[in-house]
Amino acid sequence: MVTELGLRNDVYRRPLATALERLGVGPGWRCADVGAGAGDVSVALAEVVGPAGRIFAVDSDPLARDEVAAAAAAAARAQVVAVTQAGEDLLLPELVDLAFCRFLLMHVHEPAIVLARMGRATRPGGFVVAQEPVTTAGRIDGTPMSMPGARHPDVGALLPALVRDAGLELVDAWAEAPAGAGPGPVSAYLASLTGVDPGDDPVVLPPLVTVIARRPG
Ligand SMILES: C[S@@+](CC[C@H](N)C(=O)[O-])C[C@H]1O[C@@H](n2cnc3c(N)ncnc32)[C@H](O)[C@@H]1O
Repeated sequence: MVTELGLRNDVYRRPLATALERLGVGPGWRCADVGAGAGDVSVALAEVVGPAGRIFAVDSDPLARDEVAAAAAAAARAQVVAVTQAGEDLLLPELVDLAFCRFLLMHVHEPAIVLARMGRATRPGGFVVAQEPVTTAGRIDGTPMSMPGARHPDVGALLPALVRDAGLELVDAWAEAPAGAGPGPVSAYLASLTGVDPGDDPVVLPPLVTVIARRPG
């Protein structure tokens, strides 16, 4: 049974839960959520690590800090520390057990540099986990999806090699994609993402590739 996370409306919650379950993330862990955005993952991680743990919610956008702080306050998660910093400059007050990112590397200039910084922010033997899409492997009524606004829309397909090139040990890698047809969470998610309602058309959302890597101990 996968870890229960407070992300019930997020169709990508299963890959996250699977990864955390596989890592054995638990009470007391120190984690960084890089490119944290509004902090959904940070707050979910805070639930798992408990009051003895710490989550650094890092984002280059200063506005994200307020959003994360509000989300953490609403969930009464004082162990979330919101930090304004670019992933390329990642430098935290302490080494973490897990440096995590989701839907981040697709937007940065140099995914390899951010992964290397995540590795350096992690204690020897600690984990780096990235979850990134292969956008063009998604389908709406059989037609490949695109995301012109992203710098690296298919970076998920490169993740295993990227972590290896960042000097990390590849522990595991896999891909998962939510799918559906007609009204439901998958079409609602697609509509919120693209502004296009797929109606009754079948949808396969972009597969999310997860890599679990370890900083050599
Ligand atoms: C699509 S959101 C993903 C939010 C969250 N990780 C999630 O899965 O829901 C991407 C986030 O990455 C942030 N970001 C973009 N480039 C960044 C960089 N170079 N360093 C840190 N954060 C960055 C953006 O400000 C945005 O909040």
